[in-house]
Amino acid sequence: MKALVIGGSNGIGLAIANHLIGRGYHAVILDRAEPQSGALPEGQFTYHPFDLMFPDEELICGCAEDPDINLLMITAGFGRVADFEYIHPAEIRNMMTVNATATLQILRVFYDRILGKERFFCGVMGSIAGLMSSPCMAVYAASKAAVCRFIESVNIELELHGSPNRILNVSPASFKGSRFYGGQNRPELLAGLAGDITEHLLSADPLFIPQYDETYRAVLERYHQDPHEYGLHSAQYKKDSGRLDNHRRVIIGFLSGTFDLFHVGHLNLLRRARKQCDYLIVGVHDSGAWKGKETFIPFEERKQMIASCRYVDKVVDACVEDSDAWDLWHYDRLFVGSDYKGTERFNRYEEYFRDKGVEIIYFPYTQSTSSTYIRKTIQMKTGDISSDKQK
Ligand SMILES: NC(=O)c1ccc[n+]([C@@H]2O[C@H](COP(=O)([O-])OP(=O)(O)OC[C@H]3O[C@@H](n4cnc5c(N)ncnc54)[C@H](OP(=O)(O)O)[C@@H]3O)[C@@H](O)[C@H]2O)c1
Repeated sequence: MKALVIGGSNGIGLAIANHLIGRGYHAVILDRAEPQSGALPEGQFTYHPFDLMFPDEELICGCAEDPDINLLMITAGFGRVADFEYIHPAEIRNMMTVNATATLQILRVFYDRILGKERFFCGVMGSIAGLMSSPCMAVYAASKAAVCRFIESVNIELELHGSPNRILNVSPASFKGSRFYGGQNRPELLAGLAGDITEHLLSADPLFIPQYDETYRAVLERYHQDPHEYGLHSAQYKKDSGRLDNHRRVIIGFLSGTFDLFHVGHLNLLRRARKQCDYLIVGVHDSGAWKGKETFIPFEERKQMIASCRYVDKVVDACVEDSDAWDLWHYDRLFVGSDYKGTERFNRYEEYFRDKGVEIIYFPYTQSTSSTYIRKTIQMKTGDISSDKQK
């Protein structure tokens, strides 16, 4: 028997995985990073790298087709307490994608299993913020509201289809022992909650609000009686709690290149860069402006090709120097092929960025054999000598 826990490397996902292993399950963990060594018993879990921003459809479809997996729990998600003006558009996109869109898409892949007559246990971490207004967490509340309303709606469809299965919406208020608010994993603090969630999951319940009778029934009633008054109180409570994090949180990445004869080496570079930042700006060099070399593909076409890549958020005309581009885009990370490490140019950049908090990240860069072949063929035909290295 296998249980799939998406987000199971940390926090409540890790605690649920641990609990399920204790009940005889083999846990299949999908998350951005592996669980810390020793966090789960060796040999009783399998880990696959997985990013909800760029879901690996093949992996998810494979899990949905695995008859041994009869439980899916999605706990991956993030949010923070900040006024809306401090949330970058990229953070809105990422939060809505991870907490809502990708979550619903995964549930869709598993829906044949959930809709079937056989038992399939399924749950998602919502939040109490998805059941009422949550000032200073407006985008997070919007993403969780989407999940809560979706589950409430689709559970009716499941009932009408005669399925014995339901999707469990777990909607707690703030809890301790996870990394959500920047803390450390403290599984011992989450063992009880993980056990309660599993009980509701295995009972095919549609909704679980921890401490409902003791606290949250009254809180929700107060909200429904006067949402405006409740909202004002909630905003003040968050400000007083010291959790307000009014800083920019996104990491803006930048790289530049000519991207002539676009090939898989370029693509790998863009993919790796995007995975290390939240918003990737790519500067494309006009051949004339950079080293004065002619390119095979016209400037505007190269820009269009880069703009159509899903790892790229914004394409701009590159400055001659990447340090000048920093004045325009204030990026946090500059990505470049590792063969530029130690060059005069990048030594100069290292010095320039020393007091600006910019990190230069060097990647191994590989040209594709096909692009080398095409280049040589064109060179033979035209006698032209040009370089399509990233720079
Ligand atoms: N903690 C609370 O007070 C609270 C209250 C109500 C609801 N919730 C919900 O409970 C769920 C779990 O939270 P938690 O407190 O256990 O937080 P956590 O310790 O931060 O665990 C969340 C996990 O999700 C992963 N994740 C984030 N973005 C991802 C992505 N793009 N792709 C794949 N995995 C990703 C995280 O990986 P990284 O570490 O690499 O980011 C982490 O392993 C979340 O959905 C949260 O909204 C939490």
